[in-house]
Amino acid sequence: MATSLFCAQRCWRLPFPRAIRARTSRNLTALQIHTTAGSMQASQQDFEKAQNNLKLLKKDPGNDVKLKLYALFKQATQGLCNAPKPSMLDFVNKAKWDAWKSLGGMTQDDARQSYVELVSSLVSSESNTEGKALSSSGHRSYETLQVICEDNITKIILSRPEKKNAINMQMYQEIGQALEEAGKDESTFTVLTGLGDYYCSGNDLNNFTNIPPEGKEKMASDAAVILEAFVSKIIDFPKPLIAVINGPAVGISVTMLGMFDIVYATDRATFHTPFSQLGQSPEGCSSYTFPQIMGLAKATEVLLFNKVLTAQKACDLGLVTEVFPDSAFQQEVWSRLKEYAKLPKNSLAFSKQLIRENEKEKLHAVNIQECERLKERWLSEECMNAIISFFQNKSKL
Ligand code: COA
Repeated sequence: MATSLFCAQRCWRLPFPRAIRARTSRNLTALQIHTTAGSMQASQQDFEKAQNNLKLLKKDPGNDVKLKLYALFKQATQGLCNAPKPSMLDFVNKAKWDAWKSLGGMTQDDARQSYVELVSSLVSSESNTEGKALSSSGHRSYETLQVICEDNITKIILSRPEKKNAINMQMYQEIGQALEEAGKDESTFTVLTGLGDYYCSGNDLNNFTNIPPEGKEKMASDAAVILEAFVSKIIDFPKPLIAVINGPAVGISVTMLGMFDIVYATDRATFHTPFSQLGQSPEGCSSYTFPQIMGLAKATEVLLFNKVLTAQKACDLGLVTEVFPDSAFQQEVWSRLKEYAKLPKNSLAFSKQLIRENEKEKLHAVNIQECERLKERWLSEECMNAIISFFQNKSKL
């Protein structure tokens, strides 16, 4: 049924606001919405099925598409947009309202039909790309990462340098997938590093502004599921996991370091976990690992009071293994790692597992607890205000 809806007889473009339309036409030509000439209308059952299929997408379809989906869903279920216009400063609700309003007098039946077809196009474009992009090393190609296998090392490189390698939902899923593959490939160990001047700026704060049609509770519970699965992959990773910290690290890119086996940092790196500034709470099992690693008093200053650690301080506290001068960082670290990667890989994997095994159950329990708390935090006024103020400050620059 879904595929047959693509036997389109006429093409209908959403009358989106100019900025959204410009981006949409550049990036999403494949997602133009097609409708049949009136005779085929999606049933309520098709509409519900499409909502379920949407949940199964592995990749985040991006803001533009999500706005379209939101608008079509509202038009299909509530009809024309008669809601009051949100204020200019309420940018999330304003973007949603604009998207809905832009559908004008479209009928509920047409909106339902277009929603079903848009979901169908997303599902089929995802299944077309799946399984295609395996490289010779058995790794897929990714949009937010580069994965390189050489010298018995699998390097996972965070590759959104223009956003300081902030981790959006797609990147969470891609890192998880890359770890899954790296755990099974032929390499001796796996390295996580960043492209550009930052290691990683933590959670992409846009993760909290992409509100699905079902509301912010859905956003929070989906994000908690993705985060929990991501952290679980690190807890269970079967080989040595090494972080090469090429620049400043923020948020979850810092907290998960307690589960890495080696952490090498340039002396230009800093370590910052601004959770209370953002109305949030620690993740990555750091509420357990940081007190274990650095002692309760130091961990409290870092996790509650946003204290920024220099690389040397993080090393003194036991979070970082060794600090290198920035000018020699890449060369020294990679030549050392190439030597380490010649060691017998099974011996390294079993030794790592022996060191970590006893903590695994505890870490999984902590992970669940932290994600539960975050789910509540992400819905809190404290968190929403902090995120709005981040983007407002950006827009003033
Ligand atoms: N989420 C979303 N966007 C982010 C981001 C994040 N975590 N970190 C950086 N970006 C974006 C910026 O908005 C900017 O986007 P733009 O070019 O579209 O304006 C771009 O990346 C470059 O960042 P910018 O702020 O201009 O660089 P900077 O060197 O002045 O500052 C940071 C870098 C990381 C200090 C600053 O971006 C920041 O504070 N980010 C938020 C960090 C954070 O709170 N993370 C969550 C922890 S839980």
